[in-house]
Amino acid sequence: GKPEDSMDKSNIVTCTAPVNIAVIKYWGKRNEELILPINSSLSVTLHQDQLKTTTTVATSRSFQEDRIWLNGKEEDINHPRIQSCLREIRRLARKRRSDGDPGFDLTSLSHKVHICSVNNFPTAAGLASSAAGFACLVYTLAQVFGIEGELSGIARQGSGSACRSMYGGFVQWIMGQKDDGKDSLAQQVEPETHWPELRILVLVASAERKPIGSTSGMQTSVQTSCLLKHRAESVVPGRMVEMTEAVQRKDFAAFAELTMKDSNQFHATCLDTYPPIFYLNNVSQQVISLVHRYNRHHGETRAAYTFDAGPNAVIFILQQHVPEFVQAVQHFFPPESNGGQFIKGLPVNHAALSEELKRAIGLEPMPKGISYIISTKAGPGPCVVEDPAQHLLGSDGLPK
Ligand code: DP6
Repeated sequence: GKPEDSMDKSNIVTCTAPVNIAVIKYWGKRNEELILPINSSLSVTLHQDQLKTTTTVATSRSFQEDRIWLNGKEEDINHPRIQSCLREIRRLARKRRSDGDPGFDLTSLSHKVHICSVNNFPTAAGLASSAAGFACLVYTLAQVFGIEGELSGIARQGSGSACRSMYGGFVQWIMGQKDDGKDSLAQQVEPETHWPELRILVLVASAERKPIGSTSGMQTSVQTSCLLKHRAESVVPGRMVEMTEAVQRKDFAAFAELTMKDSNQFHATCLDTYPPIFYLNNVSQQVISLVHRYNRHHGETRAAYTFDAGPNAVIFILQQHVPEFVQAVQHFFPPESNGGQFIKGLPVNHAALSEELKRAIGLEPMPKGISYIISTKAGPGPCVVEDPAQHLLGSDGLPK
């Protein structure tokens, strides 16, 4: 074709990325700008059939400026963390060009981008969407600019936890030592196929108010909590080794106990923050009691809870125990009768709840404390969506 053809060519890509849930928590930065953590962390990537972000990025010579739409609303492209991701991706693309890659499309670099992103779960559910959102943004931008290889260091600069959403399965974020952050990267520990019996239940608590955000919460913790300093220096390094081994051995009891202890220590550092931060509410506390009494009744650790910067519990449990556990949750948190489906996601078989177990748990039921449960499992990292019908931007470069 004529050279003008390639100049006119517009470029459009759609990708999806997953949510992840940490079992060894990230809390606290040593560098705010670069988002470098004070400790390593480890997470499980959740399956995108249940929870995902979808992002379309288009470039065109006709676009006047960079623009972004999130969940149907145009947002400020000048947000510093969005700018960091855009800048780092363009920097890599320029580097690739100067390295003389002949396959590189010279035109797209000078073009402005339009970005459109949606979640397949309600923001109101209070699930951390920034990890999936920034992972998806970085992965999609990289596809558009034809960049391959390590991208978690760029996703990290969007949101710390986003670097772990760049891989599927079980993922560690190695804190690194360097001041420039080049060694603060995510790495897969085991793929999503490693532990197929492992199930994950997100217990969506009907939260009344929005809790304090992680970014500012962890700032105050770093400034005021000596427990956090002790945790980062003396507790997490050993736990990272233990957790990696528990995952590799598929040792549920060890994995579960460490997961609960690490969640509890994270929330203890929040209470040790001054003024203190409370993310757990009375529903969260009742879930914690329920899990411990359920485990005690069975004489083994069959279920584990973990909580992030909000009241939703995430439960880890082996497949064979899911039906009974869900019955127990439903009994002690009676759902609204007209509230629609209580269990979403992977189907859960019905089970009987014994009087014995009810008595052993022995809590006062909390009606409507949990709105619904999302039943899921470990899943893969970001993917390219091949079907052009799925693009979120139309041929005019605007949301469809
Ligand atoms: C409690 O990654 O949301 O979920 O880096 O400031 O964007 P920023 O914070 P973010 O913090 C996540 C905190 C956490 C624990 C975790 O996911 O490891």
